[in-house]
Amino acid sequence: MVGRAGSGLSLTVMSGSHQEAMMKISRLVSGGIVTLSAMAWAGTAAADAAAGRAKFDAVCAECHEAADFEGEDAAALSASLKKIVGGQMKHKQALKLSDAEIADLAAYMSAGK
Ligand code: HEC
Repeated sequence: MVGRAGSGLSLTVMSGSHQEAMMKISRLVSGGIVTLSAMAWAGTAAADAAAGRAKFDAVCAECHEAADFEGEDAAALSASLKKIVGGQMKHKQALKLSDAEIADLAAYMSAGK
């Protein structure tokens, strides 16, 4: 009962549509935290290898063959690509890739096809 009274109070104290929206979001999040983390996990696993292939063919295939990366750990590849994009890893050509593109590329490259 104490918890309910508490959340009722904070709703009354909060005012303004932005804060109300934030409250709604935070209530949604606290209710759905398990679902959300499950989705985040699925999001990682569901990197789009087909999109990765398209990107690879367009940008990387000039110098690389996907088969050369076959069997490499996708997470390790992602980490390397992030370092290349960030300039911390030496690479023949500067790369500009979003996190999603990196995940897609890593999924495609680690599969090697
Ligand atoms: C102009 C040629 C060229 C292009 C284009 C290119 N690379 Fe490379 N890449 C290289 C060379 C050469 C190396 C060997 C390391 C170096 O730079 O000395 C390398 C190394 C790498 C490595 C590190 C391999 C290791 O040792 O772990 C990764 C990962 C990689 N490239 C990914 C990519 C991806 C992904 C793309 C496209 C988005 C790409 N490269 C585009 C030439 C290229």
